[in-house]
Amino acid sequence: MTDAGSLLIDHIGRLITNDPQLETGPTGQLGDAWVVVVDGLIASVGTGPAPGADRRIDAAGRCLLPGFVDSHSHLVFGGDRADEFAARMAGQTYQAGGIRTTVAATRAAPDEQLLARAVTLRDEAWRSGTTTIEIKSGYGLSVDDEARTLRIAGRLTDETTFLGAHVVPPEFDDRVDDYVDLVCGEMLAACLPHARWIDAFCERGAFDADQSRAVLQAGRAAGLGLRLHANQLGPGPGVQLAVELGCASADHCTYLSDDDIASLAGSDTVATFLPATDFSTRQPYPDARRLLDAGGVAALASNCNPGSSFTTSMPFCIALAVRDMNMTIDEAIWAATAGGAAALRRDDIGRVTPGARADLVLLDSATPIDFVYRPGVPLIVSTFVAGSIV
Ligand code: NIG
Repeated sequence: MTDAGSLLIDHIGRLITNDPQLETGPTGQLGDAWVVVVDGLIASVGTGPAPGADRRIDAAGRCLLPGFVDSHSHLVFGGDRADEFAARMAGQTYQAGGIRTTVAATRAAPDEQLLARAVTLRDEAWRSGTTTIEIKSGYGLSVDDEARTLRIAGRLTDETTFLGAHVVPPEFDDRVDDYVDLVCGEMLAACLPHARWIDAFCERGAFDADQSRAVLQAGRAAGLGLRLHANQLGPGPGVQLAVELGCASADHCTYLSDDDIASLAGSDTVATFLPATDFSTRQPYPDARRLLDAGGVAALASNCNPGSSFTTSMPFCIALAVRDMNMTIDEAIWAATAGGAAALRRDDIGRVTPGARADLVLLDSATPIDFVYRPGVPLIVSTFVAGSIV
């Protein structure tokens, strides 16, 4: 529900609009700005003297930006994998097979427990400025458990993704093709009412290119949008497959060849980088500069999950992208807002322009460089979803 009447936020020291028509850099910044919100939408944006409104918030010179669009998370799961993380910090390498530990814990958890954990994480994400979050299944891996985890995800977001092709569950050991048939058939049918997207983990130890292609094509035939986990743990066919199939997003992109970069740059597929994963798994950080200089579109997302990236913090992802992936602060902010929107094929979020949903973040700072300059510090004063503080 949105607050009734009009709301004016004025005395904004720096407003980040992501309005491509403003020739003020990639994020369309304005100084001494104001925003008027009506019925949960941005009604007008300007500089200098502000119009009247029913309610007013004085930004006192602080920075206001679009809410973060976190286009990749796995918020519905049971248990945690703190021991696995500790072992990794002591030198072990990340293995995709660890996903099965969370599958067992998720299958054993009742709905209320899964929902309560997901709500806690969603609230945590709100507090760090996230206003839209995509949530995948992928820790159920049976017909019933995939459908129920997606139903739970649907209580929190419209951006739900069916990820039955996450890994092969233990009961299908040595029968990968049978499992792919199940995903493409009965499991997809059960999950369809609860999903907007379909995804697959195209990686050694999970699904190969042909298996991933079969899953995404079945999803497309059923009416779902396509996304793909690609090139996370090593070079591979994932990015090329994502482009071939016209996926909205290729996610991870930790290992990008020159051909991968050229393919992404010549396509509508967004490269979604997940640097908190590379932090947690000690993979090398991708060089986003190569993609951006080639003309590719980048998004940043949290990949919040208990195995490879247990954080909901988009500010943390921005800090890593600027420090370790050669993005400028403006590019990283754009990727975490408008880039995430592009990865979800949405044009109503990720920008502060008339008609957009009034998803906003008020910073306790005049400048977003503080996401990197003051890492780990709580910088968010307020998060607004559709014009209301959450
Ligand atoms: O995006 N890569 C595959 N899926 C998750 C990992 C989940 C896990 O380790 O539990 C990811 O990193």
